[in-house]
Amino acid sequence: MREDFFTLRTVLWDEGKVRMIDQTLLPQRLVYREFGRWEEVADAIRRMVVRGAPAIGVAAAMGVALAAQGSRESTRDGLLKDMERAASGLRSTRPTAVNLFWGIDRVMAAARTARGGTDRLVRATVSTAVEMAEEDVETNRRLGKVGEPLIDDGDVVMTQCNAGALATVGYGTALGVVRAARDAGKCVKVIVNETRPALQGARLTAFELVRDGFHCTLISDTAVGHMMSKGRVDKVIVGADRITKDGYVFNKIGTYQVAVLANRHGIPFYPAAPHSTFDLERTHDRVVIEERAAEEVFQVRGKRVAPKGIPVANPAFDETPPELVTAIVSDRGLIGRPIGENVAAVIGTP
Ligand code: MRU
Repeated sequence: MREDFFTLRTVLWDEGKVRMIDQTLLPQRLVYREFGRWEEVADAIRRMVVRGAPAIGVAAAMGVALAAQGSRESTRDGLLKDMERAASGLRSTRPTAVNLFWGIDRVMAAARTARGGTDRLVRATVSTAVEMAEEDVETNRRLGKVGEPLIDDGDVVMTQCNAGALATVGYGTALGVVRAARDAGKCVKVIVNETRPALQGARLTAFELVRDGFHCTLISDTAVGHMMSKGRVDKVIVGADRITKDGYVFNKIGTYQVAVLANRHGIPFYPAAPHSTFDLERTHDRVVIEERAAEEVFQVRGKRVAPKGIPVANPAFDETPPELVTAIVSDRGLIGRPIGENVAAVIGTP
């Protein structure tokens, strides 16, 4: 497998298999793994071998395609039942990022509307999943162009978690804006928040920025306020896992406190997300925030750092209210204030 893409390709369909970078091994090793069954893809999503909202949306769609391809059913109804079973298994992996559900619904709709026999239905499912992967990169490039004018030459941009090539099929959302700014000839520096407990900032954002030759500085999560108060941050750009119709931004845990601090220091705060991240059916109070295993908190990379028996809370995401958001960058345009009122008008149908 090629490893020399300018920006990494995170999820690929390759000769009837799904290939994905094993993100649990980064930054030490860049390894592509091959998945031939939907159950393996579901497990990879759950264990964060693949992670990031757009990436898990495409991976799940490809998981359904694997189920279609591997089904022994000879009737449309039988095949669709097998696919439904896979879809429901994949849906149960992670609750917060809406892209997961969007991706699965889209391949299931393609299968249901495909004309002809089971062969045609399988082909339609696979080609829709492959199309979604290609579209993802194009969507991020468009989003990058929408966000690029927000960055000034010489800006220092802070980011949380990883909303880069590794969180998507390629190019990235928040980091897509940074890439587009550099492509437009601007000098942009990035402050990377380490993002405890899973360390997506330190392990993944730092990995892809260093690999692509960006000027970046890693900080601990506890240094965010200090850096802002000393005037060392010009803008914040983050990704999103779900943006509800009332303009609330669900993203990696820690994003809310970054937004509060940005607001305190008068620093613009921009979430960047493709249309597949918008949930125009729900308001913020109806979103499930994933709670992950306690070990992620009481251990650091496999080593226990807290006493046995300590109760742990490990919410994986938080919600930032629209009043803390300066504007949202989407591939369909910039969503300005009042965010809650403008979301549906700019996004239309996700
Ligand atoms: O738990 P993760 O690593 O899947 O969380 C990822 C994030 O929170 C990203 O910021 C979000 O998915 C946006 S990715 C373009």
